[in-house]
Amino acid sequence: RKTLPIGNSGLRIPTLGFGVYKIPPHTCKAACLSALQHGYRHIDCAQLYKSEAEVAAAVAESPVPREEVFLTTKIKQWRGGTDDLHQSLLKSIEALGGGPDGYVDLFLIHTPRFRNGSVKDVWLALEKFHAEGRVKAIGVSNFGIDHLEELKEHASIWPPHLHPWCQQRELVKYCRDNNIIIQAYSPLATGARLSDPRLKLIATENGKSPAQVLIRYSLQKGWIPLPKSENRERIRENAQVFDFELDDTDMSVLDGIDEGKLGARFPANVM
Ligand code: A2P
Repeated sequence: RKTLPIGNSGLRIPTLGFGVYKIPPHTCKAACLSALQHGYRHIDCAQLYKSEAEVAAAVAESPVPREEVFLTTKIKQWRGGTDDLHQSLLKSIEALGGGPDGYVDLFLIHTPRFRNGSVKDVWLALEKFHAEGRVKAIGVSNFGIDHLEELKEHASIWPPHLHPWCQQRELVKYCRDNNIIIQAYSPLATGARLSDPRLKLIATENGKSPAQVLIRYSLQKGWIPLPKSENRERIRENAQVFDFELDDTDMSVLDGIDEGKLGARFPANVM
């Protein structure tokens, strides 16, 4: 499936997203243009990545209409009170949405840890923009079950860090039970585990690359992977994931390589 419904809002989110985390602003427009050209219709950015304007510029320049692209951003820590919070959100909506009538498809709270204000303040501010149609869907990022419990009434979507070495099964089950869609950032484990022999074997058997296997694994788990790449060839490669399927044996081998919390550390050298 190439898109998933978001609750019963009528909105759909493309199941493969392009992650711009760590792509420097000056190369971000070119990377996004390349991604759009290779079929991505979902770009995941954030205020912290400082590239909202570049993402918007790529969408404006590409032949793909804005309505066909799903744009996500995330609010970072802001200075000041509620007015500043609203200003901060509006700035992103205008930067990404291309002006006063613009909109953002998905606005996430980047972290549950804010030094001033509270998650609830941010959520209420997001709800206001949602009601005005400037933000089509809202959600959270990097939240644990405790944080989610507080927002249970509202949360619809958010991306924990998920890949075969760090599966966060309890969180995934919680999301399933509560009808929350999951996005997986760093689905390639930041590239650090691509030479894992178990992964390489599955890749060879399927005639695909280790990165394609990891992205396909996320898709088959029902997560929304957001692989990042600055390289035109790898951007293309990472989108070629709808023409094969991992069988039950492959899936269970990958299910079995979970290392729990340890798996989140991405050691540069693998076994
Ligand atoms: P690059 O941007 O030079 O392609 P994640 O999405 O898990 O955070 O992983 C991103 C890392 O994986 C980046 O360092 C990226 O480097 C690298 N990467 C992305 N796609 C591939 C691929 N198909 N093969 C190998 N490495 C990749």
